[in-house]
Amino acid sequence: MVDREKPGDSGKWFRFSRNRCFVLILIFTGMFLIYNIKIKEMAPDWNPKMWIQNQSADLWTLFKSQRQNASSAHPAANDNSTALLQTDNKTSAPEVNTETQNKTVPTTTVAYVSPAGSYLVEYPSDYHFIINEPQKCEKEKPFVVLMVPVAPNNRQHRDIIRNTWGSESPVLDKGVKLFFLLGLHTGTGEEQVQQQVLQESKEHHDLIQSNFVDCYKNLTIKTMVMLEWLTAHCSSASYAMKIDVDMFLNVHNLVSMLLKANKTNYMTGRVERGATVRRDPNSKWYLPPDIYAPSQYPRYALGLGYVLSLDLPKKLTEASRHVKAVYIEDVYLGLLMQHLGIPPTDPPSWDYFFLIPLVYNRCRFSMIIATTTHPNTDREQIWRDFKKPGPFCYSKKKYNMKKQC
Ligand SMILES: *[C@@H]1O[C@H](CO)[C@@H](O)[C@H](O)[C@H]1NC(C)=O
Ligand SMILES: *[C@@H]1O[C@H](CO)[C@@H](O)[C@H](O)[C@H]1NC(C)=O
Ligand SMILES: *[C@@H]1O[C@H](CO)[C@@H](O)[C@H](O)[C@H]1NC(C)=O
Ligand SMILES: *[C@@H]1O[C@H](CO)[C@@H](O)[C@H](O)[C@H]1NC(C)=O
Repeated sequence: MVDREKPGDSGKWFRFSRNRCFVLILIFTGMFLIYNIKIKEMAPDWNPKMWIQNQSADLWTLFKSQRQNASSAHPAANDNSTALLQTDNKTSAPEVNTETQNKTVPTTTVAYVSPAGSYLVEYPSDYHFIINEPQKCEKEKPFVVLMVPVAPNNRQHRDIIRNTWGSESPVLDKGVKLFFLLGLHTGTGEEQVQQQVLQESKEHHDLIQSNFVDCYKNLTIKTMVMLEWLTAHCSSASYAMKIDVDMFLNVHNLVSMLLKANKTNYMTGRVERGATVRRDPNSKWYLPPDIYAPSQYPRYALGLGYVLSLDLPKKLTEASRHVKAVYIEDVYLGLLMQHLGIPPTDPPSWDYFFLIPLVYNRCRFSMIIATTTHPNTDREQIWRDFKKPGPFCYSKKKYNMKKQC
């Protein structure tokens, strides 16, 4: 080390800097992994493939807990500490740290009942739409319809999407349509939130609201209601993508991928294989064996963003009459797909769907389809930069130079 500080050695330092970058990245990755590994879990029968899958699920768990409030999927009490708080007093609203709370609009007041609650949701059931856009999709016949689940009081996130990737249409001459999926806000401010939602619907005509309680545990209901809606009101579209509010979506690449994709029995996204069923009652994704006996889930596409051909919604809602509705929505779709005997398809590239947020880079983002984003990224600013004219990538050499430490 000291050697390199010597004057006259700067050339050497420069030559080594690329290796140094690599070593530093390795060290950080290593630290990150070690931080997340539960050695206990690893010990019994170590198998590299399983290990990678478990790690990816663990990283996902860790990351999801940071995506607080970002979507309806992750209401106030979704991190372990608040979940624990709640077990002490299930009737009180979770005490949310105000620092995180301030980053977004007021959090939903519906308590997340875990882990004592039920692992099945009230579906099928006779839900009906309070706000609907029954003709919009059938009239405009989009190629892809983007369906975004979001809590009713999360207007801020809806506006960001309307101002960013939700505004893209047509793309490659294909129509793209955006809708938000809402349940009912319950608890404090119930009426006020509903009035605001009605007003917003008049302004934008892109809200679909159904009469089930909007909370994390009911996400499966939201997804199934989405499938009912697609069957009833959007069957002339070719594909639907369900995508979370805190995602970055490269609509051009999505459409481009779908133009070459199968037209039926097609579901893609970030496909998990052999994911382990969580048997630790403190896990956010705990499922007891009496609800689901196998130790692994069938193949399923992670809920952050998945794509369906429009023949599937009807088949999936029919299948739901034969498969108990578990509260983990993406897993449930996996179970339904298994029932139908249609495994989800991997995307043409592994580099399309990102679980762990990618740091914004114009060149990098021009090659992906969807990635989660960190809660404090300014997605409108990223979008402005992404959409500005000019090439996405510099020549390879320049790009590498820019990436030097
Ligand atoms: C739970 O919270 C409610 C409302 O805040 C309170 O009235 C009640 O006494 C609490 N119960 C326990 C066991 O702490
Ligand atoms: C949160 O926001 C409120 C009002 O918007 C403000 O008064 C308060 O200081 C903020 N708290 C933090 C921790 O930033
Ligand atoms: C989910 O929605 C149903 C229908 O509105 C409701 O009965 C149930 O209590 C909700 N679940 C939770 C955990 O709030
Ligand atoms: C399309 O479907 C056929 C038959 O199901 C399958 O063999 C093929 O691999 C699929 N192609 C793509 C791109 O998914």
